Amino acid sequence: MNKLTFPILQLLADGQFHSGEALAQQFKVTRATIWSAIKHAEALGITIFSVRGRGYKLPQAIDFLDKNLVLSAVGEQREWINLIILDEVASTNTYLMQQKNVPHATCVAAHIQTNGKGRRGRTWVSQLGASLTFSLAWRFQCGAAALSGLSLAVGVALMRTLASLGVNQAQLKWPNDVLVLDENRQGKKLAGILIELQGDLDGPSTAVIGIGINLNLPKTVLESIDQPTTDLNKTAALNKNNNQPINQNFLLGTLLKHLVSVLSNFEQLSFVGLRDEWLSYHAYHRQAVRMLLPNGTEVLGVVKNVADDGILLVDTPLGLQRFSAGEISLRGVNMQGVRHVVGD
Ligand code: BTN
Repeated sequence: MNKLTFPILQLLADGQFHSGEALAQQFKVTRATIWSAIKHAEALGITIFSVRGRGYKLPQAIDFLDKNLVLSAVGEQREWINLIILDEVASTNTYLMQQKNVPHATCVAAHIQTNGKGRRGRTWVSQLGASLTFSLAWRFQCGAAALSGLSLAVGVALMRTLASLGVNQAQLKWPNDVLVLDENRQGKKLAGILIELQGDLDGPSTAVIGIGINLNLPKTVLESIDQPTTDLNKTAALNKNNNQPINQNFLLGTLLKHLVSVLSNFEQLSFVGLRDEWLSYHAYHRQAVRMLLPNGTEVLGVVKNVADDGILLVDTPLGLQRFSAGEISLRGVNMQGVRHVVGD
């Protein structure tokens, strides 16, 4: 940690050059102190151009998270949210999971995660100003056993948010990946959801809902990720007349507003109240798919529905099967063959 790194980055967020001397005067420190704060930023993976005679500059202007801007985008529901913005943290999910008695509806957003976690033990790659990373702690009266459809419900909040920002190309892939499909119906990942639970199986329980959204990832970062990935600005740019970059404060505030509404609905009606809407967003509804199961086996079938508890129902040559884990793949799926077998 270097106390000056983030205040300096906040000044550099305008994308302009700032001389070492001007920064040193502003913070009443030596130029060497500024230099070591810049080195700390570079160690966090942030690219900073340093040009003799001109100073330091970020490759482009970025948004910094700002509590007031986020809460004003939340609107009337802002009273619900206890918002904390951190400069640098290993993982917002881990941070909230380690707190004792975290207040209901606490949201922790971070400028930088140094050890972001994805599902199935993966790493979640993010960058300052190029990704939104946050977690929301939500207390439920019911136990963890009743929360199996929760991650699908969170996907609905994400889709409502994207639609309200004019991004209509995104779809969900069971259980909760947010994807943009290419012409071959292969998905590129736009956002991910990681839910961790605390509490008893029969209640009460707390869910830590972690969300990562790619905003504007540099090409080198996109290429370093081990699965096809896209970001919101590239997706929004697919809409003609939409050249405005999406502001991450507005995005976070709008998403929190939709999360409050969806989670309240989920508390009353469980996933059942959101199922039809979820199905309307599912990229592979009624499609032939290959299910890749955690034990390494694979099953071919046609996606039929999602059960009340979020379990995927797939028509297979052995009859209707229920999947609570696994991944949908389209690799080598022969649609006609499957249709024939299951008599769709
Ligand atoms: C996935 O693999 O699809 C889930 C990715 C979840 C990433 C988010 S970023 C904020 C929160 N903190 C983490 O460490 N992970 C989640």
